[in-house]
Amino acid sequence: MAQPLFDQIQEALSSIRARTGFKPELGIILGTGLSDLAGHIETAAEIAYTDIPHFPASTVQSHKGKLVFGYFEGKAVVAMAGRFHYYEGYSARQITFPVRVLHALGVQRLVISNAAGSVNPHIEAGDIVFVRDHINLHPENPLRGENDERLGPRFPDMLQAYDRQLNAVGLKAAAALGIRAHEGVYLGLQGPNLETPAEYRFAHIIGADLVGMSTIPEVLVARHMELPVLVMSVATNKCYPIEELTETTVDEVIAVAQGAEPKMRQILSALLPDLLP
Ligand code: 6GU
Repeated sequence: MAQPLFDQIQEALSSIRARTGFKPELGIILGTGLSDLAGHIETAAEIAYTDIPHFPASTVQSHKGKLVFGYFEGKAVVAMAGRFHYYEGYSARQITFPVRVLHALGVQRLVISNAAGSVNPHIEAGDIVFVRDHINLHPENPLRGENDERLGPRFPDMLQAYDRQLNAVGLKAAAALGIRAHEGVYLGLQGPNLETPAEYRFAHIIGADLVGMSTIPEVLVARHMELPVLVMSVATNKCYPIEELTETTVDEVIAVAQGAEPKMRQILSALLPDLLP
């Protein structure tokens, strides 16, 4: 039988602890094009994913693949520079393993960023969206299989998956900074292909504002452990109404996400006092 998840987490933790005693309070997952934020962390230690037992190895363009420990605006954080996606071929459990490890390291809150397509005509490319709910259409659930009660319950509740108060503070902070921001529903698909016009229309009709290929597995695992999450998306391209669709290129998605990185960083700075009271 495979080694229990709990033991794998402990092994990863021990290996990190052998390299740094840094105690982060906040975990940050840097999505597509947002890795620049890691450059604004006053770094105390960096650990490559390849040096941590049971971490998958990152393969995607624009993702680096290391844990960055240090201070962001005076707060002790650990950032995942580079994240894993289901479409890379890992299992849902594998891609969410780092979230288990961040929790074991003691983080009190998790901030997740991502790039996503907009299926809400009011959400423009470059806008920031605080995710307030999601629709999970991933084919595999990271909580599937034997449940370890030391980590969380068999049937975790998802009514409060996203912290409404933090989103409200985020929206206020964005407004004060003159940054266009919204709250929205994120539809998670496995990718790696982008969506067909009929799929964009479907996403819109079922109540989504954004479509993306990440984040939901991590949120499920974080909430399994009762770790509060804040998800900030950059809308990288407009995908609705379908009469106005143009081709989506990865380069364009990355460019728009990179362009929005300073906005995310400013909002995160403004949010920090509420994130870590
Ligand atoms: Cl999954 N779809 C579209 N259309 N645009 C995106 C995306 C997905 N992720 C980032 N931008």
